[in-house]
Order: sequence, then C-alpha cells, then structure tokens
Amino acid sequence: MENKPLIIFVLGGPGAGKGTQCEKIVEKFGFKHLSAGELLREERRSGSPKGDLIETYIKDGNIVPVEITLGLLDTAMQKSEIKQFLIDGFPRNEDNYTGWNKIMANKVNFKFVLFFECSEKTCVERILERGKSSGRSDDNRESLVKRFQTYTNSTTPIIDHYRKDNLVRTIDAEASPDQVFEKVKELFQKECLS
Ligand SMILES: *[C@@H]1O[C@H](CO)[C@@H](O)[C@H](O)[C@H]1NC(C)=O
Ligand SMILES: *[C@@H]1O[C@H](CO)[C@@H](O)[C@H](O)[C@H]1NC(C)=O
Repeated sequence: MENKPLIIFVLGGPGAGKGTQCEKIVEKFGFKHLSAGELLREERRSGSPKGDLIETYIKDGNIVPVEITLGLLDTAMQKSEIKQFLIDGFPRNEDNYTGWNKIMANKVNFKFVLFFECSEKTCVERILERGKSSGRSDDNRESLVKRFQTYTNSTTPIIDHYRKDNLVRTIDAEASPDQVFEKVKELFQKECLS
C-alpha cells in the first residue's frame, strides 16, 4: 500500500469553491492538484500523437475514451515527485466512475471523496459575482442552470455510491473560503494527512 499514490477526489457543484480550497490544501498539506480536463487540454496543445488523437475525437464531437484520459492521469501521477493527489471534479458521472474502478482503482491508495456541499442559491450567486469580472461566457444564469442539472443528474449518484461505503467527507461550503478551509484543516489533521 505504501508505494501506491494517495488519492482524494474533490467534488461539489459549480461555485462550491473546489478550486480555491484545492489551492489552499496544496499549499498547506503538500498535495499535488490534478484536473483531467486540464491534462487533456495540455496534451492537445502539445501536438503529440496522443494529442492528435484526442483532437480527432473532439473535432468529431465524440467523448474522449476514458482509457485515454485516465492514461494521462496515470502518467501525470508517475511523473510527479509528490505522491499524494487531489483529483478535482472527478469522477463526475457513471462512465468516469466505472472507468476508474476498472483501470485505476487497484493502483492507488484511495482515501475519500472530499465533498463541498453548497446550496444552488449560494453557488449561483457566487458564480454570477465572479462572472462580472472574469468575463467567462459560461457564467451566465441560463448555462449555470444547465451545469447544475448536469451536476445533480450525473454527479450526485456517484457521491451516493461512495457514501454507502462511508467514503465521503462532507464540508459545509456556504461560508467564506477561510472559514471553509478551517474545517478542511480539521478534517485533514484528523485523517492524519498533515
Ligand atoms: C469524465 O466524463 C466527462 C464527461 O463525459 C468527460 O469529458 C471526461 O473526459 C471524463 N473524465 C475522465 C478522466 O475520463
Ligand atoms: C436532468 O434530469 C432532469 C430530470 O430527469 C431532466 O429533465 C433534465 O433535462 C436533465 N438535465 C440535464 C442537463 O441533463
């Protein structure tokens, strides 16, 4: 078990503060932050044969097969000197979940799902506020409602799978980032991750 990388999944609705809290955890507890979406974008930009393959899937409007995306995660973990990882926004649907269980689950030391729980109302307000300055085109109300539906429809059932095995650690994410991080710190200290 000791040689396997330590994994925490970070989940929560859009605007729950996953990114901000991940940054703080990286800084305080020495984790490495991985995002499958970011790895995919990097590989595409690199122009490698695998990047070209990914490009083809996306251009044809197809989902990149889970084997490819998980392969990128696996490679990133092997290359990293740090061997404890936060995987952000994953697994977000049944396909992600079954792919992980089939390909990766036995290669890692999985700890738990860190779940940032935040009401839709608070999250929407946060993102709309952020949208005022960031100019992100998907930060408008209509596409937000859709992102929330996707999250509720696809991700909530995955969190429930882990909850059955007592592998979800829920953090109330309604408060300010610093207050939320106080609770994260307590959790990590309790779970001996400091
Ligand atoms: C998870 O599912 C999403 C939506 O289908 C997909 O875009 C993403 O590539 C998947 N992630 C992994 C790591 O397979
Ligand atoms: C989510 O599920 C509801 C109820 O089944 C459905 O009406 C809606 O279209 C779904 N939304 C998305 C974005 O998948």
